[in-house]
Amino acid sequence: MKRKKISIIGSGHTGSTLAFIIATRGIADVMLVDREKNEQPMKGKALDILESGPILGFDTHISSTVDYADTQNSDIVVMTAGVPRQPGMSRDDLVQINEQVMIEVTEQVVRYSPNCTIIVLTNPVDAMTYTVYKASGFPSTRVIGQSGVLDTARFSTFVAEALNVAVNDVTGLVLGGHGDTMVPLIRHSQVNGVPLTELLSQEKIDAIIARTRSGGAEIVKLLGDGSAYYAPSAAIYEMIEAILFDQKRLLPVIAYCQGEFGLNDLYIGVPTILGANGVERIVELELNDDESVQLEQSAASVEKVKAALKQQF
Ligand code: LAC
Repeated sequence: MKRKKISIIGSGHTGSTLAFIIATRGIADVMLVDREKNEQPMKGKALDILESGPILGFDTHISSTVDYADTQNSDIVVMTAGVPRQPGMSRDDLVQINEQVMIEVTEQVVRYSPNCTIIVLTNPVDAMTYTVYKASGFPSTRVIGQSGVLDTARFSTFVAEALNVAVNDVTGLVLGGHGDTMVPLIRHSQVNGVPLTELLSQEKIDAIIARTRSGGAEIVKLLGDGSAYYAPSAAIYEMIEAILFDQKRLLPVIAYCQGEFGLNDLYIGVPTILGANGVERIVELELNDDESVQLEQSAASVEKVKAALKQQF
């Protein structure tokens, strides 16, 4: 079987951490891509990862480049390029700087890998995924944003901590935009099948919801310079596996809604089936009144950011 190839645009903390995770699992060769000003440190990171192979026992090849021609025939391309937020900034503050980066990068990616699937992480991620979709001309099934896997992982972490139970037994589902209005679906959260509402008081659940919503900001504040990258990279890795191995996982990802959940022409976090064809379908759950209102509010805030894009397609 031909070796799989994943190109990662942006060799910052997230890009390089993701490269390391992919390498250690040995699922694909990795091409790290960045601008010339970052070429030397990027080369250093790629070489450093490669040199951990003999110890960790992988033979994945990690290379780096400033020339998009080297990304040719990638199976998956991950967009992490752009500016991260700093303390006090919201993800939405990044919209216009990162939009331009996304447009430039997408043109290059599409030129060399017309059949790839693109996963976007750059913030504000719902709007950036929309920009990449429009700039790429790809079917929407092959342009996907990451947020729900990370937000759900944060939620599950906090639940496991509150209950002192194995995190692997916790399931959750966080929908909506990647921001303060995200929608953790408590009705679909369980600990090995036991509904969360039977295990935690409403007060504790509310506190977990609040902490999940500001989970990214909590890390930004602690780091003092830039945003989270270990859990975001792990979240992208889970999506990559689902696509590369056609796992047909039910995962919340940022997908293009065309009527689903009453949303139109909007990229936002919804439950999907993720497999070899990318977003193979959106799973349109029945929401109760409260959840519907929350999703509507979240959609309105994503619409607002989308309206601030310079390029109106
Ligand atoms: C976060 C950033 C990556 O949620 O959006 O940590």
